[in-house]
Amino acid sequence: MAIRNIVKNGDPVLRKVCRSVLNFDEKLATLLDDMIETMNYAEGVGLAAPQVGILRRVCVIDVGNGPIELVNPAIIAEEGEQIGSEGCLSVPGQSGTVKRPMKVTVKAQDRNGKTFEITGEELLARAFCHEIDHLNGILYLDKVIRG
Ligand code: NI
Repeated sequence: MAIRNIVKNGDPVLRKVCRSVLNFDEKLATLLDDMIETMNYAEGVGLAAPQVGILRRVCVIDVGNGPIELVNPAIIAEEGEQIGSEGCLSVPGQSGTVKRPMKVTVKAQDRNGKTFEITGEELLARAFCHEIDHLNGILYLDKVIRG
C-alpha cells in the first residue's frame, strides 16, 4: 500500500469525466487499497480516483464506520434534502454550503465486480453525491449556495 499524491483544484484532471472500470484485477485492488490509505492519512471522509490522477469510476468513503469501496457507482434513488457544510481534500482549507439529498441509494460494484446496493443518510448521502460528482468532473465548489 502507498499514500498517493492528492491533486489540487486547478488541475485539469479534476474536470474530466472518468471511464468505467472493466477489469477487476490486481491493479484495481491496489488502487482501492492506496486510496483508502490516502484518505485516512489525509483525514478525509471520501476520495475519488481522479483526485489521485486516475480517470476511472472508483471512489472510497469512510464516514466513521469503516471504508466503503464503490466501483462504477450510480445513484439510483434519492429522497429529501439537507443543506450543510462541505469540503474536499482537493480544495484544502475551504468549505461551502451545499444542498444535497438527505437519503441516497447507490448501485455499484465491489473490487471483484460483484454488484451491490447501499443506502446512506445525512453525511453518508452527502459523501455519495460528492464523490460520484468527482467522477463526472464536478467539484462541490460548482454547487455552493453560500461560501
Ligand atoms: Ni472532494
